[in-house]
Amino acid sequence: MKIVSVVGARPEFIQAMPVSRAISDSHQEILVHTGQHYDYKMSQQFFDELEIPTPHYNLGVGSGSQARQTAEMMVNMEDVLLKESPDYVIVRGDTNSTLAAALIASKLGIPFAHIEAGERSFNRRMPEEINRIVVDALADRHFCVSHAAVRNLHAEGIRDSVFQVGDVMLDALLFARPLARTKSAVLARLGIQPQKYALATIHRAANTDDPLRLKSILSALDQTGETIILPMHPRTRKALEALDLQLADSLRIIDPVGYFDMLTLEENARLIATDSGGVQREAYYMGIPCLTLRDETEWVGTVDVGWNKLVGAEQQAILENWFSFSPPAEHPFIYGDGTAAQLIAGILNNVPND
Ligand code: UD1
Ligand code: UDP
Repeated sequence: MKIVSVVGARPEFIQAMPVSRAISDSHQEILVHTGQHYDYKMSQQFFDELEIPTPHYNLGVGSGSQARQTAEMMVNMEDVLLKESPDYVIVRGDTNSTLAAALIASKLGIPFAHIEAGERSFNRRMPEEINRIVVDALADRHFCVSHAAVRNLHAEGIRDSVFQVGDVMLDALLFARPLARTKSAVLARLGIQPQKYALATIHRAANTDDPLRLKSILSALDQTGETIILPMHPRTRKALEALDLQLADSLRIIDPVGYFDMLTLEENARLIATDSGGVQREAYYMGIPCLTLRDETEWVGTVDVGWNKLVGAEQQAILENWFSFSPPAEHPFIYGDGTAAQLIAGILNNVPND
């Protein structure tokens, strides 16, 4: 088949890599980058590190309001899909790039698969939750990470097209971890030792766009007194600049890092605190305790097994758990075994015969 694969934001570049490799033998892939993320450290560095081929198209959409960004992506994506006339489209995750591509593929009558289908936070104030619901309502194949996602889709009346394949982020991690171990010098560069620091990331709109929540989280991190490495998303950097906050030297805010450096920082951290979906899962795969700086999560499996704890944005809750949170010894496989991309490729190979 001729498949158009759509990416636009940081986690999508990482997720795309194992799937592109798995489908390359049997299919022609046209990679389309919407341009949602565009800073070198949010986009091109992942293509360079992971040797992802240059996208055939970059729609150059950039940042904007929910409507402007999504609408511009749809307009440009329509041109690409009409020109390429693919047999199939692949979208992943829950970003505005995912939504735009799903809407326009559906309207043009092109079937599409959704990777990471069925995840739900049940919080419709999140733009991502709206994206997930709409994309899943329209998708032709639903590739799920978790059993919870399968159940969510069943509850929405989506059944026959649902496949639990596991997490392509785990495939990516297993591929990249040995490379990260040899290539990344981030610990030496930052002058830190394994287990002697915590790692944090913050970028969810609910945290960055609410000055009280952002202040509360940063003040808590500040007060732990522990060395904390915080690679900062540009959205958070902009929000922080608007706050008048004096932060301790132990809280080390750095630019977003590449994937190899991020895996190295995760693997060697004593603790991870994050509001990222990808980082919550990676913390689990690496066996690192995780405090999630949100009031709910899509990744309930990591909470159920006791390795992830929801602490929200309350200073006190973060501080109470910072040194005391201790996961159990059991660490079962909950999101597949790192072969999701192969399973997806196998299912896609049968699509034309349906
Ligand atoms: C988006 C996704 C989110 C995902 C995240 C991954 C949506 C609705 N949200 O959130 O699900 O977890 O990507 O990181 O699609 N910016 C830059 N340079 C860049 C990119 C962004 O400066 O290269 C700044 C801009 O000020 C922009 C803001 O970050 O307005 C937010 O970017 P945007 O892509 O709209 O959303 P994310 O918060 O990155
Ligand atoms: N990541 C990275 N560098 C960073 C922060 C995150 O390489 O500075 C990686 C991280 O390891 C994971 C992915 O980006 O693979 C997660 O992306 P993000 O947190 O932006 O989005 P989410 O997963 O919440 O959608």
